[in-house]
Amino acid sequence: MNCNIAVIKGDGIGPEVVGEAMKVLDKVAEKYGHTFNYDQLLMGGCSIDVHGIPLTDEAIERAKAADAVLLGSIGGNTSTSPWYKLPPDKRPEAGLLKIRKALNLFANLRPALLYPQLKGACPLKEEIAERGFDMMIMRELTGGLYFGARETKEVDGVMTAVDTLTYNENEIRRIAIKGFDIAMKRRKKVTSVDKANVLDSSRLWRKIVEEVARDYPEVTYEHMLVDNCAMQLVKDPAQFDVVLTENMFGDILSDEASMITGSIGMLASASLNETKFGMYEPSGGSAPDIAGQNKANPIATILSAAMMLRFTFDLDKEAEAIEKAIIQVLDENYRTIDILSDGKQLVSCSEMGDLIAERV
Ligand code: IPM
Ligand code: MG
Repeated sequence: MNCNIAVIKGDGIGPEVVGEAMKVLDKVAEKYGHTFNYDQLLMGGCSIDVHGIPLTDEAIERAKAADAVLLGSIGGNTSTSPWYKLPPDKRPEAGLLKIRKALNLFANLRPALLYPQLKGACPLKEEIAERGFDMMIMRELTGGLYFGARETKEVDGVMTAVDTLTYNENEIRRIAIKGFDIAMKRRKKVTSVDKANVLDSSRLWRKIVEEVARDYPEVTYEHMLVDNCAMQLVKDPAQFDVVLTENMFGDILSDEASMITGSIGMLASASLNETKFGMYEPSGGSAPDIAGQNKANPIATILSAAMMLRFTFDLDKEAEAIEKAIIQVLDENYRTIDILSDGKQLVSCSEMGDLIAERV
């Protein structure tokens, strides 16, 4: 198969972790007879440094022309980097939001599962970690507070800032349908998360999710308030299968879910539209504190590449080969610093990539 992949290495640890994912993809190509063509694009701080803006129209067009985008991470240290002296719409994150919107990537899938090998790195009590968990956070990605009107102005002599949380029924319906579709391929349970005791947008969310649920009689579904969900995630994560939620809640809950897997460096993600096109990236950030030190955990990015093979290219066997290689490396007790525990062997980012590639 001939696959055209736009690659955005980005900032911070992005280039390191994407480099390892490409190493693993190249091994897959060699072993299974595929061709991966990479078109490298700039986004985030590295694009600001070259073009003065975090994402050019040309980069968007080239991303659109590809079958999928593989992304590292963007952004820098918000208190020290010169990028954060720019107006908000010129900062690295604006590039990420722009590409999500331009490619209509409304469905963000963030799988959070506890590998039995990493129970020692899970910060939860042993009896909770023992039960394990395997959930899919389904985050709406192109609406809500992230894309509503915002402004900061003086009202009656008082500085006032406004962010708007807007959802229409179509935006809710399409992500809910994706959530229930995914649940049908998993354990057939959806937990829809909202704040319907306070927010109108959540009350509409609940109503539409209920309508969609009627078309999926086999799926058990429940509503859960977001504050309760934050608590349940650390109390009893095994209860969750698909967690369906709006943009901001999903941003927060997915970081929490990733932390209980042992490390944010383990959490992959896929952002999808209505077609086979997708953007695949680790859920973690650019980690400027460890950038360039060959310390980052590349597993989330490598798992994201596996998701790309599965969702965009229908290469299930190849995706499985990558996932199995990761499990094998963990079974052999190799760990990057973020998931290191007693008795395990510390390896660098590039060593981890080599180990996984060798086992594909
Ligand atoms: C994420 C990140 C982004 C988000 C930031 C970098 C804008 O935290 O992908 O979760 O909030 O969506
Ligand atoms: Mg986030």
